[in-house]
Amino acid sequence: MRTLTVDLPGRAYDIQIQRGLLDLAGERCRTVLPKAARIFLVTDSNVEPLYLERTAASLRSAGFRVSTCTVPAGESAKCPEELAILWENMMSAGLTRTDAVAALGGGVVGDLAGFAAATILRGVDFIQIPTTLLAQVDSSVGGKVAVDLRAGKNLAGAFWQPKLVLMDPDVLDTLPDSTFADGMAEVIKYGCIFDRAFFDFLAARPSRKELMADIEHILYTCCDWKRSVVVEDERDTGRRMLLNFGHTLGHAYELAGHYETWTHGQAVAAGMVLAAKLGTKLGLTPPELAGQIERAVTALGLPGTIECSHEEYVAAIGLDKKGAGDDISLIVLEEMGKAVPHRMSKAALLEAL
Ligand code: GLY
Repeated sequence: MRTLTVDLPGRAYDIQIQRGLLDLAGERCRTVLPKAARIFLVTDSNVEPLYLERTAASLRSAGFRVSTCTVPAGESAKCPEELAILWENMMSAGLTRTDAVAALGGGVVGDLAGFAAATILRGVDFIQIPTTLLAQVDSSVGGKVAVDLRAGKNLAGAFWQPKLVLMDPDVLDTLPDSTFADGMAEVIKYGCIFDRAFFDFLAARPSRKELMADIEHILYTCCDWKRSVVVEDERDTGRRMLLNFGHTLGHAYELAGHYETWTHGQAVAAGMVLAAKLGTKLGLTPPELAGQIERAVTALGLPGTIECSHEEYVAAIGLDKKGAGDDISLIVLEEMGKAVPHRMSKAALLEAL
């Protein structure tokens, strides 16, 4: 087993990475929840037939009473309506303030269940059991929980750190290739922004099979970087913003495709390539980096470029006539493995695009 500690004052928690960990979820949860009688386990309709019963059985074997709730798979479940359903079901199940909520699933389940945990009874303990690569390397660590509003993604939420994050690399075996590749966009991002040697390590393993052979090292490295950023800047006002590399442009692609044409990982992949090209145009990024990132992402079936009109960039970057002159922090690479924020006007960014 590999363990990392997210050392936040008074709210430190472990990330455990271990094959077969799903079957040990009960004993591991018991160590951090000595008084909890019940765990309210949230999953989605994709994960339920694969892993719900195994996880629930493990929790029961550690003496927890388990209530389960399955939300529809997909981003549309991350909404206030599903949140309200969870709240009501938690109360019907008899959840008390000494009980806990656990999320078994990808980023949508983690964000939704986490926000429910942060708000029900003014906050109860929360456990993350991420089952997608994207959730394992990014969303399950760091405490950002939210639901989407009609006005945009993640607009109602909280910082609510879990008590424990349990990562079983074996559960990644059931992911479709495209979902695995989605998570790899975020994995490659860590190499780009923090760790040149890790980028080279990934680039030398351009297939899922090769990556899965080293998956524990990959998960550990990503979570170690995420942990260090979260400890330094939990509230996302400084260094944590470096994690947005590729995301400003990626959000434009997601928005232009109405969150249906492009997945988050696909949009981030193309967004990182364009951010490198923009960095070069601004005289900040060595010219060979865009090609290096493009080769790494396209080898996994992710797009290196996505078409987007000027109007779509304007809509996403938020420059309308009223907002003209506002600044934006674009994350750019000074070298492979070293990201910096580059403050520029939105107008200048759109001009560069
Ligand atoms: N996913 C970016 C962050 O947690 O800050």
